[in-house]
This record gives sequence, C-alpha cells and structure tokens, in this order.
Amino acid sequence: MSATELRTVSIIGTGSYIPEKVVTNADLAKIVDTTDEWIVSRTGMKERHMARPDEAASDMGAAAARKALEAAGVTADQVGMIVCASITPDMPFPSTACYVQRLIGAHNAFCLDITAACSGFIYSLELARNAIACGQVDTALIIGTEKLTGVIDWQDRQTCVLFGDAAGAAVLSARGAPHGIRATSLGSDGRLAELLMLPGGGSRHPTSAETIAQRLHYMKMSGREVFKHAVTRMVEACQKALAKAGAKVEDVDLVIPHQANLRIIEAIGHRLGVATDKYFINLEKYGNISAASIPVALDEAVRGGRVKKGDTIVLVAFGGGFTWGSAVLDWDKE
Ligand code: ACO
Repeated sequence: MSATELRTVSIIGTGSYIPEKVVTNADLAKIVDTTDEWIVSRTGMKERHMARPDEAASDMGAAAARKALEAAGVTADQVGMIVCASITPDMPFPSTACYVQRLIGAHNAFCLDITAACSGFIYSLELARNAIACGQVDTALIIGTEKLTGVIDWQDRQTCVLFGDAAGAAVLSARGAPHGIRATSLGSDGRLAELLMLPGGGSRHPTSAETIAQRLHYMKMSGREVFKHAVTRMVEACQKALAKAGAKVEDVDLVIPHQANLRIIEAIGHRLGVATDKYFINLEKYGNISAASIPVALDEAVRGGRVKKGDTIVLVAFGGGFTWGSAVLDWDKE
C-alpha cells in the first residue's frame, strides 16, 4: 500500500481510572526520612493514589477502557486491537491486554502488551495508528496502566516518594477528520538501561531468596542522570514530531508532557519556547504514574474543557530503556 492510501487516524474517546486511596507527602514522611517541603520543591508532587491490594493493572486498565469506549460511542465488540502499556503488568504472561479484553468483553480484538516505561502510551499510540492507517483494524483501544506502589522500595526515599497508581485509555479510529494524529517521533537508547530499571524477576535475575534479599524486585533509579536525559530527549522528540507534522511551536495549543517532575516540565518549556500556560500539569495529585501519565492527563484535559475541536496538541514522554517519544495531533472531536 502506498503512503497516499494510508488512512488518517484520530483519538475518538478517552477515559481514566484513579484508585481511591490517597497518600500524601505527610504520610510518606512517617515512613522514610523526607519532608513535604523537599518533595514539593524538588518535584511539585503533593499526593499520589494507591490501588487496593486486590486491584491489578488490568482491573484499573479495564475501568479506564470502559470510560474511553463510552466517550467514543464504541462497543467492546467493535475493538479490533488492544495495546496495553505497563511496567507493572498483572504477571509476565498472559498479557495484561488479554485480561483487559476478558474484563470488558472485547472478544474480536487481538491483544498485546508493550514495555516502554513512561513512553509506553505514545509507543502504543504509534503501533495502533499504523495498524489502523494500513487497514489491519478499524478501531483500537490503547491503555496505560500502572500499579507502581507494588514495585517501589518503601525504604528508598529517592524513589518511593515519586510514584503512584492509575490507568488511562484512548480509543483510536479511522473515522475522523482530515488530520487526527499528524506525526510521531520515537527513540530509544539501551546503552543507558541501567540508570532506570527493575532488575529482578526476569531471566537475567530469576526470583530467588537472594534476589529478594538484595531487593532486586524493586525499581532502581539514578534520578539526577535521568533528569538530564529526560529534558534533552523530550525537547528533541517534540521538535522532531513538530517538524514531521509541518507545525511550528506557535501552532501548539496544549502540551501534555509525562508528569515525572515539575522542574523537568519547566525546563522543557523554557527550551522548547512554548508558553508555560500551555502545559497541562496534574502531577501534584498523582505523582509519576509512568505509562498512565499521558492518557490520564489527556482525559482530564478533554473532560475539563482544556481541549477544543481544532486544537493542536503535543504529547511527549521519557522513561526507562531509555525510551522517549512525542506525538502531534489535531483534536477533531467536539
Ligand atoms: N527526601 C529528602 N531528601 C531526599 C529525598 C527525599 N525523598 N530523595 C533524595 N534526597 C536527597 C538526596 O539524598 C540528596 O542528598 P545529598 O545532597 O545529601 O546527597 C539530595 O536530596 C539531592 O538529591 P538529588 O537526587 O540530586 O535530587 P534531585 O534534585 O535530582 O531530585 C529526583 C531527585 C526528584 C528523583 C529528580 O532527579 C528527578 O525527577 N529525576 C527524573 C525522574 C524521571 O524523569 N524519571 C523518568 C520516568 S520514570 C520511569 O520510566 C518508570
């Protein structure tokens, strides 16, 4: 199929799910040596949410997916593909996407998980866009869902204050306006994998009493290093995606960045040249929710009236791998 025959693809519905339990900075100060002042000044975060012990990534993903389908006016049996992005899947296999399929009854879909950490939603968007553009499926459901409170080391103040649990979802379809998702730019650098990882429990370090004693089943992060790379790569990804879309920074109505740190977002804003009031920020309520970060923010922006028909939106993320990505889209829904 030549490029001219490719279909344009749009997001036609969004949804999110936030677990009820709130963990404040003051709560964390009772567990580790930290303060509300440190967390707010270094990250901008005030609260995060925590899933119930019986709630898995697929449960949260399914709750977000149901809302996205409802908003899109699409029934579960019309979904041809489910992509689930998560670093906290229900289990190594079957995929979390297959569990979501079962929970929502999307029995005509093929399902897969992807691991791209905090960039997972943008990677999913691109996979689903391609599948729809070339006619493999008509409608796709993409989900970012994370139960990070289950994989953070509650003795490590450098990481445990940063993360939370949530899920977000979007429905993609070919029945959209002329533009929809205009361009994406994705990248990875495995040479820096060790700076942000969860080393235990896979084939490199299968779970054993020793790996547990070494706390390898918890996330490890070299925060300062990650910070520097995040700023550089997110700015670069936005610039590349905007160039591919034929858009300028002046055309951008809203930037939805991965919500890892307010200072990262401010640094990107400064370098990219998009006015600060055009950045959607909700990290004070949820902390870093990895792959769920962008779809939750997008859903809040849509439902809160921050996004209007015709707006040009930039999504941008950076995460473990390293992975990064940006997408430029025109919002074509009322
Ligand atoms: N409370 C109090 N003090 C703390 C805490 C805490 N919770 N955590 C660290 N500190 C201390 C450190 O020990 C250090 O003390 P020292 O100077 O005596 O050694 C001091 O605070 C400064 O530590 P830094 O790590 O340099 O702090 P920084 O300003 O870099 O902020 C942070 C740390 C918030 C982690 C930041 O580096 C960051 O946001 N990094 C990027 C995170 C990110 O983008 N991740 C990507 C996505 S995540 C994913 O893919 C799953």
